[in-house]
Amino acid sequence: MSDPTASGERRRALVTGITGQDGSYLAEFLLERGYEVYGLLRRSSSPSLDRIEHLVERIHFVGGDLLDQSSLVRAIQESRPCEIYNLAAQSFVPTSFAEPVHTAEVNAVGVVRLLEAMRQVAPEARMYQASTSEMFGKVRTSPQNEKTAFHPRSPYGVSKVYAHWATVNHREAFDLFTCSGILFNHESPRRGEEFVTQKVARSVARIERGLDSEVTLGNLDARRDWGHAADYVRAMWAMLQEDEPDDFVIATGTTRTVAELCEVAFGCVGRDWRDHVRTDPAFLRPAEVELLVGDATKSREVLGWEPEISFEELVEEMVAAHLAALGEA
Ligand code: NAP
Ligand code: GDD
Repeated sequence: MSDPTASGERRRALVTGITGQDGSYLAEFLLERGYEVYGLLRRSSSPSLDRIEHLVERIHFVGGDLLDQSSLVRAIQESRPCEIYNLAAQSFVPTSFAEPVHTAEVNAVGVVRLLEAMRQVAPEARMYQASTSEMFGKVRTSPQNEKTAFHPRSPYGVSKVYAHWATVNHREAFDLFTCSGILFNHESPRRGEEFVTQKVARSVARIERGLDSEVTLGNLDARRDWGHAADYVRAMWAMLQEDEPDDFVIATGTTRTVAELCEVAFGCVGRDWRDHVRTDPAFLRPAEVELLVGDATKSREVLGWEPEISFEELVEEMVAAHLAALGEA
């Protein structure tokens, strides 16, 4: 394939998972930098374009699915990307316990399909793989960095470990420019509704507007290192601008319990979370990741990456978005 930038064309990026939380922020980020953005869109009876509604005129959509090899080959042929960002995944941990084979097909084998399509069609392109702190799972040491051992605790985590090593292996075996970003939890008003930050933010707003009186959660003691998605997509791009491909942890370095998340979120409307939060074992997981806290020293030193949005600002933005959507009291 010819170099798409050789004739002075705009840089082209292919983003899988463009309809997801991260895809929407990354598309904005790349468009601001003058990229021509191609988004892989899988067939759906009702397209899920809500998060990129404001961008649809500026994105080229190419049909395809991580479950279908030939569609990935065609997507790369059509988009002729300099950079490929693989954000597509079955990303909800509880669903991975219910649908472990589907999760593996998309998150693990799907990545090999994409790597092979890239090797065949665009070996000179650069690829980002969306790896995750869930790979650390039952953590041995804290904070976790690029050298920390993996011990995944869910079919989701297991699938992502496979994809991580496939990304590393294609780099080492075939000399491809493939990077694995090991990102800790990142949230935003565009977060899926089933994830705990969004579930809590939505409930705070509904309780404040008198539509609900409580929210039911699972493990309140689990600790996560929560950042903002807008900060984290900057790191994805930065990895692909380096001279050499490598793997990087992206995290804030601070950890909070789910209970502390509730305290901050209910605090946004001057309420005491203990008056509104109930627990139900139905929301516990067959195996839990109790503690995650990342050490992003390498990213800071090599990429110059730093998070800019604090946890409190993030939670406030999420609660405010729900309050605004519900309208004035
Ligand atoms: P998300 O909101 O759940 O988005 C997932 C995206 O993947 C959606 O666009 C979805 O398309 C697409 N997708 C699912 N199955 C597909 C398939 N078979 N073929 C093609 N596309 C498919 O996830 P996110 O929070 O943006 O996360 C982005 C990536 O980062 C994921 O790989 C996730 O595992 C990883 N990650 C996320 C975090 C985090 O805290 N957010 C942390 C570490 C790693 P539809 O709209 O059609 O469903
Ligand atoms: N979803 C959810 N719902 N989680 C709850 C609830 C609840 O009602 N109650 C407690 N939790 C706890 C979970 O048990 C978990 O320990 C923590 O809240 C965070 O859960 P999620 O928000 O669902 O995220 P996650 O940490 O399992 O996974 C997310 O982050 C990963 C990075 O570490 C996802 O975005 C993954 O795709 C991502 O890789």
